[in-house]
Order: sequence, then C-alpha cells, then structure tokens
Amino acid sequence: MTPPTPKGTDGALTVQPAHGLRGRLRVPGDKSISHRAALLAALAEGTSHLRGLSSGADVAHTLAAVAACGAELEGQPPGAVTVRGGALHEPAAVLDVGNSGTAIRLLAGWSAARPWLTVLQGDTSVATRPMARVTEPLRAMGARVDGRDGGRYPPLVVRGGGLRGIDFSPPVPSAQVKSALLLAGLGADGPTTVRETIPTRAHTEELLALAGGRLSVEGNAVTVSPGGLHAFDLEVPGDPSQAAFWVVAACVVPGSDLVVEHVYVGPGRAGFLDVLTRMGADVTLERADPAARTADIRARGSRLVASDVGGAEVPGLIDEIPVLAVAAAHAEGTTTFSDAAELKVKESDRIATVTSELSALGAQVESRDDGLAVTARGGRLRGGTVTSHGDHRIAMALAVAGLAAAGPVRIEGWDAVATSYPGFEQDLQRCVS
Ligand code: S3P
Repeated sequence: MTPPTPKGTDGALTVQPAHGLRGRLRVPGDKSISHRAALLAALAEGTSHLRGLSSGADVAHTLAAVAACGAELEGQPPGAVTVRGGALHEPAAVLDVGNSGTAIRLLAGWSAARPWLTVLQGDTSVATRPMARVTEPLRAMGARVDGRDGGRYPPLVVRGGGLRGIDFSPPVPSAQVKSALLLAGLGADGPTTVRETIPTRAHTEELLALAGGRLSVEGNAVTVSPGGLHAFDLEVPGDPSQAAFWVVAACVVPGSDLVVEHVYVGPGRAGFLDVLTRMGADVTLERADPAARTADIRARGSRLVASDVGGAEVPGLIDEIPVLAVAAAHAEGTTTFSDAAELKVKESDRIATVTSELSALGAQVESRDDGLAVTARGGRLRGGTVTSHGDHRIAMALAVAGLAAAGPVRIEGWDAVATSYPGFEQDLQRCVS
C-alpha cells in the first residue's frame, strides 16, 4: 500500500459564498479509530476485515508502516481492507508518518513493544511536534528511545522489547500518549496503567476490547495486561472532527438544512455538539445507535450566541476549535476558548493561524496564551486570500468561513486537506447551493 505523495504547499481552492447547504452526506471514516484499527489488526493473529477506514494520507502512512513490519494488507480505504497480522518483523527502512502526529506517537509505543529497531520520521510539521510526552514514559518502561534534541522531537529511533509495565499519569491530557503506552503495555512483562486527570477519547480501549485485549477501566485509570489479540471485523464510523466542518457550515449559512450520516458520537468526541448547542445552534441527532455510538447529525441555519469553552471539555473538542472559532465569528458576543495551549503544537500553531487567517477575513480574533477570544462584528466576514499554513483543519475551517462570507475566499495550501479529507471539495459541491 503506497501512501500518496507528500503534500506540498501549492494548490489553492476558491470557495464562493453559499446560499444554503442541503442534503445528506457521509464524511470519511474516523481517523483516530482508523490508525488504531490498523495497528491492532497488525498485532492480532488471523485476518481482520476493516471497512470504511479513513481515506486520508495520514492513515495511509500507518497502513504502510504496519505493512513494512510484515502485516499483509489487501484493499484500499475506504473500501474493504483485510489485514493479516501476527507475523511481524523488523522494518527494513525508516517508517514515514507524513504529516501525522498521531501516527508517530502511536507507532512509537507500538514499536517499543517489538524486539527490534524502528526509525520514525515525518514531514517538516511533524519534526516540530513534541515527543517527550511519549519518549519519557516509554523509556521508563525500558525501551531505548532516542530522537532529535534528546528525544524531544522526531525523527525517533526506538529499540524495543524487554518492557516492564508502569503506572503513569500523563502530564498533558492526551489520547495519543495514553494509546502509545497501552500499545507498548501489550508487550510488557506485567500490567501497565495510565491514569488521566481529564478523560480523553477511548478508541484504543474500545478496539482493544474488540480484539480480546486484557483491559480494565476504573474511573479515569486504564490498565492493560500483556497478551495476544485476535483478529476482528470493524466498520469504521464517520469522523466527528470532519463532520464538524459541515455542521458549523450549516449553522452559519442561513437557510441550510444538512444531515451528516453515521458519525461517531461516543465519549471524548462529541464535545463540539455540546458547545454548538450552548451557542443556540439548531443541531439534533437522528437515528442514534447507542451500541455503535453513532448517529446522523442534522444541522440548520441558526442564530448563534457566544459561549465560554474551557476546562475538562477541551480535550474532547481540541481539533474542532478552528471551526468553532468560525462559528464564534458569527455568534453575538465574545466567545472564549481557554485551557487550550495544546493548540500551539498541532499541525500548525493553531492559536496563531486561526488568529491571522480569520482576522484576514475581517473577524475580530484575539490570541491568548491558552486559547482565543472571538467577537462577532455583526454582518458577514469578507472575502479574501488566506493560507492553510499546511494544516488540513485550518484549510477546512477557512472553507467554512468562505461559505458564509460576503465574497469569494481563496485558500492557499489547500492540498493539506488530503491528509484527512481528500473528498472535501466533492462533498462541498454536493451540498452547496
Ligand atoms: C488524537 C488525539 C488528539 C487529537 C488528534 C488525534 C488521537 O491529540 O488532537 O488529532 O487519535 O489520539 P492529543 O492526544 O495530542 O490530544
């Protein structure tokens, strides 16, 4: 499986003002679930059947990484992909994670449990992503992990195997850190416990349970015991972080009535819906399936009011803040985002990039040390030229801003979107009038 060519910063998309978004659409399979499904299926004995994996380049890199370690893959996302796992070996070459911080952190834990050498590297954005949050606890488990600046930045070099279980409280609430340690813990000599102060998305736990992993959850503490996994079948639900772009777009473009079908709305992911509801958005769940943790999300043009976003809800909506900032630019009053300093170390410094790009469209945005304050000016944003800064979520948030603006918005660096949502433009054409 060959990942798409690394994205450049070329390519631009011009979004025209919309009169309404209508109809029904499906977003790509959840990216967080897709990474984990690939990693666990590769470890499991037997053949796993995965349908609806994310078709973005990020997950293609994780699939290519497990293939380089001996997993036998057939098929292409979002169609059926079979993964024959169990017989893994040392990769012969450096594993390239592209733009994906999730891939490099999860693979660091996954490969720490393997008795061989793994070298992990990504693009120029990944090279700036902090890694000490995973390399330090992995070292405490006995893995020999190195990287640039003493292991604080990629590339990472992991000499795995011989791990001991640890009991660890991550200093930052991070599902990636929790997951890296749980994946490492599968190959340790005893139980590994991760204690969170604020619960984060639980996809690793959900998929470990599906694959027969030995796992116990007590409050905010998760313990995994070493042991084998069995193959599993999975239909990956739609990605709520991608659905958020359409939901906000429908809310801020008057006259919209849009349904995003079959979206994961389980723990740690639906926080953006709570915020939009507080802001007065006309957003409802239809055809909810509590067992599968999915629902269709229906959103209509809404009059929004400001809200304060912060505290324990932040990890559950951190990826949605760029597009929630667009909602805030259309809400009466000042919306604040606090306790969100992690925004600075995402695919771009999102405090800086949201501020500069939305300001260029006439929004009133103030950057703060731990977040943003966005005040509606009244009236529509103006058209103009903006840039993604190589960040897929900034690109798509700006597209949403463009749909509601008074004039066309040209987004440079649009090809960053391929990391997570290669079909965004087609979906845009499908639902915009
Ligand atoms: C993710 C966790 C979050 C999120 C990222 C995906 C995951 O990152 O921002 O896009 O799949 O575990 P952190 O773990 O750094 O909070």
